[in-house]
Amino acid sequence: MRRTQTCGELRAAHIGQTVTLNGWVQNRRDHGGIIFIDLRDRSGLTQVTFDPDICGKDHHELANRLRSEWVIEIVGTVKSRGERTNPNLGTGMIEVFVTALTVLNKSETPPFEIDEHAKVGEEARLKHRFLDLRRAPMQRNLIMRHRATKLARDFFDAQGFIEIETPSLAKYTPGGARNYLVPSRVHPGEFYALAESPQLFKQLLMVAGYDRYVQIARCFRDEDLRNDRQMEFTQIDLEMSFVDMHDVMAVGEGMVRTIWKEILGVEVPKLRHMTWDEGMLKYGSDKPDLRYGMEIVELTDWATTSGFSVFQTAVAAGGVCRAICAPKSSEVLTRRTLDALTEFVKGLGAKGLAWIKIGGDPTKTESWQGPAAKNITEAARGDLAKRMNVAEGDVLFFAADKLKGVCSVLGALRVELGTNRLGLTKPGQWEFLWLHSAPAFEFNEESRTWAANHHPFTAPYDADVDKLVSDPGAVRSKSYDMVLNGNEIGGGSIRIHDSATQSKVFQSLGISPEDAQKKFGFLLHALSFGAPPHGGMAFGLDRLLMLMANAESIRDVIAFPKTQKARDEMLDCPNEVSERQLKELHLVTTTEPRAAQPLAPH
Ligand code: AMO
Ligand code: AMP
Repeated sequence: MRRTQTCGELRAAHIGQTVTLNGWVQNRRDHGGIIFIDLRDRSGLTQVTFDPDICGKDHHELANRLRSEWVIEIVGTVKSRGERTNPNLGTGMIEVFVTALTVLNKSETPPFEIDEHAKVGEEARLKHRFLDLRRAPMQRNLIMRHRATKLARDFFDAQGFIEIETPSLAKYTPGGARNYLVPSRVHPGEFYALAESPQLFKQLLMVAGYDRYVQIARCFRDEDLRNDRQMEFTQIDLEMSFVDMHDVMAVGEGMVRTIWKEILGVEVPKLRHMTWDEGMLKYGSDKPDLRYGMEIVELTDWATTSGFSVFQTAVAAGGVCRAICAPKSSEVLTRRTLDALTEFVKGLGAKGLAWIKIGGDPTKTESWQGPAAKNITEAARGDLAKRMNVAEGDVLFFAADKLKGVCSVLGALRVELGTNRLGLTKPGQWEFLWLHSAPAFEFNEESRTWAANHHPFTAPYDADVDKLVSDPGAVRSKSYDMVLNGNEIGGGSIRIHDSATQSKVFQSLGISPEDAQKKFGFLLHALSFGAPPHGGMAFGLDRLLMLMANAESIRDVIAFPKTQKARDEMLDCPNEVSERQLKELHLVTTTEPRAAQPLAPH
């Protein structure tokens, strides 16, 4: 070991000691012949001081030539900073007076400043990720990630779980996310799929008797990337035997509580439970953000007698009318903002956005302003005032359409108002909940068929098994998602373990026994050898950390993420491969590769 301490370690207690430090030059200041360097490593900064009377002329001259990001070693004596202490720095009480300086390596001028507060575009950051990762916020995030992962492992270990690795190279199974395919060299024309989750393997492990399994598992999904989605991401994945929904939820909740307490010092209270139906009805969402109110109000019966033809026509056509009230927001929500919000909901497929501003005393007709206000009857206005509990300064928004559209429009509008337009969220708010009992199936209007909402192995409610074939839409599943501040951070279900129920589920999905054998034969085969009742869940580790670190995207909590365009800008990939390699894999490409890029320049 060359160094005696790290750059974040020295305190007043070290005064008088001779130390050796290694690190990167953060900056250099020259004060009338005395040179100050902030020396940095991942533990912090130490001020090192070159006084020519102490370090000698040669070392002082060398210090003069130091540039940002050079790697150096200094030997020196720890001294008190006296009057000039820096309370913002862990090492702020001391400085090191250098007696010897060695340059371990030089550095090119970095393309951006390695500084916490420097505003740097994400493209540049990702292209030079090794420099971006030197910055304190990224270091904090990755260290937090390490700690959270370790806490999760220790938590599950203490509960009798064992970690078992499962393959990434697996079999393509239909349904779920689009898979990445990997061509086999050995088996011409055949492909592996990169596992989108360890789901099938963990169920096989339950059959094998490993009744408490956990894995910090890498998953691969060929999806369009967003701020909370990567093509390659990490799950904290678990599965348990001989359990019901509440057992799995209790364990998942326990893990989150441990991580929040140990890392953030926050006591997470017992999580609220909400059915999927309630989430949709009150928040228009399967991941409600409970940091603010603005619950959706059901107004379909009111709409029929409201006198407003837009609402009446929509309801007559089998639709619903619902509304939300943005409290005390009539000043913030200017005409221009309301127009922008109308465009926003139109982008989501809405036909329009009727709104009413309560400009003054709500009992006075003239206080009601906006396109819907003039169209509704006096009686409807009074009734509405009561139902929505309106007050001066409120703005009401209405959606009238088919149920699904109304839920998604008001759900999205509520979030847009709460998090963006009205800024109703505060840092340090942690609104967790369990959203459970989602419908087992969803009807696909295009193909006129039912599809599994989670996956076809999700257990239906016992009381709903009778409806599996006769009324699939009414079947609830034993499923649960953990939601935090409007983000789905985890989800899972109890699985089907008996073949009779499984056959009925395949029947409602229109999957024939032969088809089922072809697609999921290996799992059905295994389940027929004494599969225990089992269930589990998976947390999105990246999403958990994004929220804990208050980061804008999951890219900020992943060391080497892909861009939104599914590229690694630093490696410059994906990239083309040689004809010979393609041939070896029995592949022919039909598109011209994009022009080759030079390897990432500085
Ligand atoms: P699911 O598909 O809901 O369940 O995934 C579990 C959790 O993983 C996170 N997640 C993602 N994070 C980043 N990028 C992505 N592309 C991405 N996709 C999902 C989410 C999500 O809640 N096998 C089941 C779990 C089970 O039933 O046990 C599964 O994979 O936070
Ligand atoms: P119109 O009478 O068509 O000009 O519409 C009056 C108001 O109703 C406008 O503000 C429209 O944006 C709004 N609107 C139109 N269709 C709908 C709908 N389906 N749901 C809610 N508002 C609507």
